[in-house]
Amino acid sequence: EKGGHRHFMMKEIAEQPTVVGQVLDAYVSPDAHGIMMDLEGIDFAGIDRLSIVACGTAYYAGLVAKYWFEHYARLPVDIDVASEFRYREPPFAPRTLGIFVSQSGETADTLAALRFSEGKAARTLALVNVPESSIAREADVALPIHAGPEIAVASTKAFTCQLTTFAVLVVKAAHARGEIDDAGMVEMLTDLRHLPGLMSHALASDELIRAAAEEVAEARDVLFLGRGQMFPLALEGALKLKEISYLHAEGYPSGELKHGPIALVDKATPTVVLAPHDGLFDKTVSNMQEVMARGGRVLLVADARAKDQAGSGVWKHITMPDAPEFLQPILYAVPAQLLAYHAAVAKGTDVDQPRNLAKSVTVE
Ligand code: F6R
Repeated sequence: EKGGHRHFMMKEIAEQPTVVGQVLDAYVSPDAHGIMMDLEGIDFAGIDRLSIVACGTAYYAGLVAKYWFEHYARLPVDIDVASEFRYREPPFAPRTLGIFVSQSGETADTLAALRFSEGKAARTLALVNVPESSIAREADVALPIHAGPEIAVASTKAFTCQLTTFAVLVVKAAHARGEIDDAGMVEMLTDLRHLPGLMSHALASDELIRAAAEEVAEARDVLFLGRGQMFPLALEGALKLKEISYLHAEGYPSGELKHGPIALVDKATPTVVLAPHDGLFDKTVSNMQEVMARGGRVLLVADARAKDQAGSGVWKHITMPDAPEFLQPILYAVPAQLLAYHAAVAKGTDVDQPRNLAKSVTVE
């Protein structure tokens, strides 16, 4: 049942190339020329704002989607953790589409946020893994994320399938709003078609990551940094690590380092930097130098070009394949998950059933 793996979590990490491929088969035509996604009349050209609501890892998927929707579709996005949403009684701008993200489809706060939004949002859309769940049934439109059953408490393949589903939705929105033409759409969909192969490539770093994780597991605190669309991955990496290894971890946008968290940096505190070579990489290099100048150990997860530019002084490198910028948050989920997994195994925790956590949080 664990497909030869010791834990469901590792099985679910390893099957991501397959399940992400399933998402693409469901939503992208084989020639990458068209999108097959029935939104039951939701037209992004007639939407002025998105309001994304979710909890935990699903919230971080939504946070990546905010960067994407704003960048590629020029569509403004509000995002909330579900428990903060309805009690605030947020006003809705006209023509707002509410998007609710939940693996289980049963999370109490997300369901309550959906109910609160009914009649206030123009339409409601759910991204869910369980098609017969409450959130799937109550939203105007439900999009399955096609991850298959997720057994481990720590969410892995649901996250990358949520992101892949969002990615297709972003392309659809960008095209409908005239931000990209047909050729631009085909280009983005073709990029997406490369994801399963890139994820397999990322999984091949497993041994290197395990070696790094065994050292990280000795720390008390771990910092995760990312910029732009990689910032939510820093949050997700920290959440995964704390959930299953019980190490204290915090994710920050790289540029926030000097506004507080740098006080935590010392020789004993590893800093994981998730930084593919992108337009912001130079700024990330200077953030890493600030860490290293204080004796901090930097674990750099990056592509080869970023590795070359980072110079000496980096404690450990995990090299990721080159990938189109759009796909990087999905790809970099893999090393973040593997790092948490191997740190937890090194610490001897109950990886699939971490203490104090439930797979589905059906009470407030
Ligand atoms: C993290 C994790 C939780 C869930 C959160 C939302 O690994 O499992 O943070 O992501 O409880 O659950 P769903 O997606 O079922 O609403």
